Amino acid sequence: MDRLIIKGKADLKGSIKIKGSKNSALPIMVSALLTRSPLKLKNLPKLDDIDNMSKLLRSYGANIKSKQDNLEIKCNNITNRDADYDIVRKMRASILILGPLLARFGKARISLPGGCAIGTRPIDIHLEGLKKLGANFSFENGYVVGAVEDELIGKHITLPFPSVGATENILMAASIAKGKTIIENAAREPEINDLAFALNKMGAKINVKNNGIIKIDGVNSLTQATHKIMSDRIVAGTFVIAAVMLNKKFEVKEIISSNLEALTSLLIKMGAKLKVKKTSIQIMPSKKLNGIKIQTAPYPGFPTDLQAQIMALMSLANGNSQIKENIFENRFMHVPELNRLGANIKVKKDIAFISGNRHLKGAQVMASDLRASVSLVLAALCAEGESVINRVYHLDRGYEKIEHTLGSLGPSIKREKY
Ligand code: EPZ
Repeated sequence: MDRLIIKGKADLKGSIKIKGSKNSALPIMVSALLTRSPLKLKNLPKLDDIDNMSKLLRSYGANIKSKQDNLEIKCNNITNRDADYDIVRKMRASILILGPLLARFGKARISLPGGCAIGTRPIDIHLEGLKKLGANFSFENGYVVGAVEDELIGKHITLPFPSVGATENILMAASIAKGKTIIENAAREPEINDLAFALNKMGAKINVKNNGIIKIDGVNSLTQATHKIMSDRIVAGTFVIAAVMLNKKFEVKEIISSNLEALTSLLIKMGAKLKVKKTSIQIMPSKKLNGIKIQTAPYPGFPTDLQAQIMALMSLANGNSQIKENIFENRFMHVPELNRLGANIKVKKDIAFISGNRHLKGAQVMASDLRASVSLVLAALCAEGESVINRVYHLDRGYEKIEHTLGSLGPSIKREKY
């Protein structure tokens, strides 16, 4: 296993260009299953999850060519329809193959995506939506088996919760179903727009309204397309928070700053000095930030994927803060680890109470879920002395070689095997 050794009181200078979004790339890679024609993708991040998705698609017979940050995926010879547990358990996004396989082949057998550190991660909203389109499901030995009698038929589907993955699964299936589908209370995350944008380039007829309604006119088949994956708003937000915590002049570039409005407006409210342009955010040193009370919410609310990172920042702010986590039932795994670094955070049910003005001190800590891990990196950069972060494979799922990307901008971050 790998661990990171981080020297605290780090310097940070210059700027960083943000790569393609993991959570946009994963569903768009899967959408290649909907057609025999090649899908060419650009600006893919180099992440373990992307490699795992390629492995999963190849296990179905997809032909994938990869060159630098480009991929060409061709699914003209799909063989087995059996996603094995070992790949699926590592990556929740595997469940996204359900909709496309059912829409194109009328059947699919996928290992149920076990729970993970942040929660049980059920798929009931996915299955209910696909059932509305005409799929039937049974369960055997930890697998979900889906089948379609004839073909999927478009329907009016209202989601009980704007689940990102369920919206993506239903959207992809509906794109080649017969007739019209309307998804109401759909997720409004920017990654949904990027998926719809890619599908429309492939010949789909999707209209994403900005009120959680998506209208789809099913087409017979999709054609080849080329698509550049949008910039990763969560990685961008993570680096903005890092620069604010270190109180350094820094610039985060090649982003879509309107996708980060919930974060930038919050940081400015706390007292940060940001210059927000269309495709970049400049951070300037400021006085100490003030604590604040926030809660996570579906987009355009404050993203749960930045909750751990903003919590690390709140430990340094003036005064106390609170975070109510509304999306996942167990997304405070970073709290005991941040406390080992000198934070003082208490959790009561779904609310974290964060004391401010903490002097963080280096320590040995354990990474857990992807975003919890990066919040430990941010805290370690601000702590006094050296920190060791174990089990960084979590980090590699969503952050490209952070010891190089961040390490090349001032901080001393070393990776070693143990
Ligand atoms: C996506 O996960 C992201 N993953 C997550 O990012 C992100 O945290 C999440 O959306 C919320 O924004 C990818 O895009 C690959 P959900 P997803 O379905 O689709 C419950 C990261 O760090 N739910 O919107 O799984 C679920 O348990 C990852 O990159 C059901 O109850 O999220 C959760 O409490 C972590 N039944 C809530 O909804 C369902 O059928 C949100 O889940 C589906 C979801």
